[in-house]
Amino acid sequence: MKIIKTEFLIKVFLCLSVSSSMFASESLKEAFSEHFLMGTIWHGHDVNGKKNTFLEKEKEITLREFNSITAENVMKPHYIQPKKGKFKFKAADEMVNFATKNNLTIVGHTLVWKNSAPDWFFQDRNGNQVSREVLIERVKTHIQTVVSRYKGKIAYWDVVNEAIETKWNPRTQSYDAFYKPCPWLDIIGPEYIEISYKAAQDADPDAKLLYNDYNLDQKAKLDFALNMIRDFKERGVPIYGLGYQAHLFLREPTLPEMERVLKKSADLKIPVHITELDVSVLPNAWKYRTASVEEQYDLASKLNPYQENIPTDVLLEQSRRYKDVFKLFLDYHDTVERVTFWGVWDGNSWRDYKPMSGRTDYPLLISRSFEKKMAYDQVLSITE
Ligand code: G3I
Repeated sequence: MKIIKTEFLIKVFLCLSVSSSMFASESLKEAFSEHFLMGTIWHGHDVNGKKNTFLEKEKEITLREFNSITAENVMKPHYIQPKKGKFKFKAADEMVNFATKNNLTIVGHTLVWKNSAPDWFFQDRNGNQVSREVLIERVKTHIQTVVSRYKGKIAYWDVVNEAIETKWNPRTQSYDAFYKPCPWLDIIGPEYIEISYKAAQDADPDAKLLYNDYNLDQKAKLDFALNMIRDFKERGVPIYGLGYQAHLFLREPTLPEMERVLKKSADLKIPVHITELDVSVLPNAWKYRTASVEEQYDLASKLNPYQENIPTDVLLEQSRRYKDVFKLFLDYHDTVERVTFWGVWDGNSWRDYKPMSGRTDYPLLISRSFEKKMAYDQVLSITE
């Protein structure tokens, strides 16, 4: 009984010991202004097929806390060119106008991504696969049209997204990394990547071009990505830096695994952008992503433990995790140019609907009732 009481008092003390009202900085962007840009995403009006009724509130938090913004979905190919030659810019224009008016550094996301390329790119009118030449022409036209529309307004582009995959090799007992199989690779070959960077640079020579991927804390994937970037730089292919997504869990990846990304990039003088940061408090469910609806239903209680509310000790663990991660970013602030959260607040996160729908996660710094969480205070505290 005594032990439980002591534990409770420690938690209360920790919760009370840092509170944002005690800090000199009044926002995340102010706290890190000498180190890196602080970004969030523009969810837009459509969230996973439903109307986003919180856009105004999200704008308010964005302007208070952040100085950079990334398009979550509105610039993806399936959104911006759903049919050949039919460009839909309204949603992206709205974001760019909001950001320009408010001096936010804009990140375009993304021009070439397997998961977001509509089928028409790869097929002719009869549904047959197009030739290499036709596909090159189509990707160049897409990039030229989108990038030149926002020339001078978008500072960074995630040109190619998630083009590398890894697989466990039982023979060598390690992971092998390789270009992810996709129609771009099948039809054009690996050159589709450099073709994309060259097209983006032709359309806006001043935009800085990033390669963006997840699981870069896996050594094989990191080495493959850095080798690709180094090779591009050596051959004059216009690539600027690495986008490390950083979709984290409470205990994975480990800090040394994350540090390896920053250290190796620093050694190679490759700038890093933390492009999609969040810390899920839920069990990692990626291995169940292909589970049937029935299986997901059975797994729900195990994989969705905080549907009603979230215990304080979990929020506390998350706040420590955020603090550790930000300390690391600060240690490497010469290399890390931007830290962007993949969401504005807990009530609107992709973590609720991927890899399985219907879960309740709490991955960001602002709560479901728009309050600053313990994690917010911990992050702010490290620059004091
Ligand atoms: O707009 C359609 C709507 O017309 C349709 O009826 C509805 C049916 O589900 O879907 C709507 O599209 C959704 C789209 O978000 C726009 O809201 C998709 O279902 C949904 O799968 C899609 O999820 C996005 C996902 O990328 C896939 O594009 C997430 O919001 C977005 O957060 C996520 O972001 C990615 C990054 O781009 C790359 N790195 C990983 C990251 C997380 O998966």
